[in-house]
Amino acid sequence: MTLDASPPPADAASEARIVTSEPEAGGADRGRRGLAISIVNWWLIIAAGIVFFLLMVFAGLNIGAALLGFAGITSVVWLVGSLERPQQAAVSVGAGRIGRWPDSGLRTGLDAIDQPCVLVDATGITRHVNPEGVVRFAGLRTGFPLSFGLRTTVVLDAFTRLAAGGGPETVEWTERVPTERWFRAVLTPIRLPIVRETDPGPAPDFVLLRIIDRTEAYLVERMRVDFIANASHELRTPLASLIGFVETLQGPARDDPNARAKFLAIMLDQANRMKRLIDDLLSLSRVEMKAHVRPDTPLDLAVTCRHVVDALGPVAAEAGVSIETDITSEAAVVLGDRDELVQVISNLIENAIKYGGEARRVRLGLRRESLPQRGAQVVIEVQDWGPGIAIEHVPRLTERFYRAGNAQSREKKGTGLGLAIVKHILARHRGQLKIDSEVGRGSTFQVRLEAAATSV
Ligand SMILES: Nc1ncnc2c1ncn2[C@@H]1O[C@H](COP(=O)(O)OP(=O)(O)OP(=O)(O)O)[C@@H](O)[C@H]1O
Ligand SMILES: [Mg+2]
Repeated sequence: MTLDASPPPADAASEARIVTSEPEAGGADRGRRGLAISIVNWWLIIAAGIVFFLLMVFAGLNIGAALLGFAGITSVVWLVGSLERPQQAAVSVGAGRIGRWPDSGLRTGLDAIDQPCVLVDATGITRHVNPEGVVRFAGLRTGFPLSFGLRTTVVLDAFTRLAAGGGPETVEWTERVPTERWFRAVLTPIRLPIVRETDPGPAPDFVLLRIIDRTEAYLVERMRVDFIANASHELRTPLASLIGFVETLQGPARDDPNARAKFLAIMLDQANRMKRLIDDLLSLSRVEMKAHVRPDTPLDLAVTCRHVVDALGPVAAEAGVSIETDITSEAAVVLGDRDELVQVISNLIENAIKYGGEARRVRLGLRRESLPQRGAQVVIEVQDWGPGIAIEHVPRLTERFYRAGNAQSREKKGTGLGLAIVKHILARHRGQLKIDSEVGRGSTFQVRLEAAATSV
């Protein structure tokens, strides 16, 4: 069967009229209206009881007449209520394939689901969209063909198969506009027992479409796959080089002392690179494991900064770079993990040394700042006067394995994990990283952390 994109036929047979003669909004509201009528029924019965009681007390109506009148009104109300019930069932029996409306129970059930759900009848007309569906897929409208709101061929084809009597199906698709999103739809045929008795045909009464937005899960999965691919690649490169040199030393260079010394130096270098990479990966996974626990040890960052500058003295000296410090004498206490914050400051200073170019100068600033909305903060700034970073790279610098100048970074023995670790550590400390960089003028990496009230 093909998907019928036209509205339900107007000349449908008798039962069909019960279903389709109602305007769309009325059909959609029928369950609620049925419920309202039954509540009204009860109120009518109670009101009639009160009126007859008052008539008995104040107007002297005899008890027999009062009971008779009350019984009469109750019967009429029940009769009206029972006439309403078959309408609420909203089914067509033996009238050919025409649209059906879901009863209020079915709709209420779908409304309670926190995923977009759409109920489509076998003719392809949307009969109910739950609130989540209305919010997420504005095009899906009750009373209109499914194809008007969802133009995805895989879904419409699957629907056609289900409407022809096929079993449940799951389909997936990607939308590229306005942003890339991944969806999965689970289509399930629904057959109403009451209809089955009179209409045993293969077609379902409704097809339920449950739409699942898989974008987040997909991106996490893609990141995981990319991460493993990147990590393997980064490890494989030095490993391949090590194997190559070992083979050379076993073979052609076996008896060449000069070549041996040279190759061993390169091998040591490659082995150290692998060690750095593994250390960084372990560090990253350690920080990730503790991501939800905010550190609570008071720590004076002025002391930590001086310690890092002292520790990096030999590295800076080897690179011919001088580290200038501008450290406040005010209290700069934060609640933090000392080792992790040492890692943050070291990473930023090492980057400034590595990528700071010919200026041979790095500044480490530490100050306290009080902002009206945010309260007191401790600000660390690491500045260099190097070549700077092109604007398109800046937002991606904290991604794992991302390097702005790939060749230059590799040459500087960078793994591309340093700033990813910085980002994760700061997230755990509820801190922020801001990068200001201008090509030709240099870069400033700013870290902001909430100042602690306590002193160390
Ligand atoms: N101060 C800077 N000036 C210019 N480029 C920088 C600076 N800091 C970082 N970058 C760029 O950002 C990239 C990512 O830095 P990150 O610290 O994450 O990795 P890395 O330094 O290459 O490796 P690792 O820190 O793990 O040894 C670097 O490869 C470099 O291209
Ligand atoms: Mg780095």
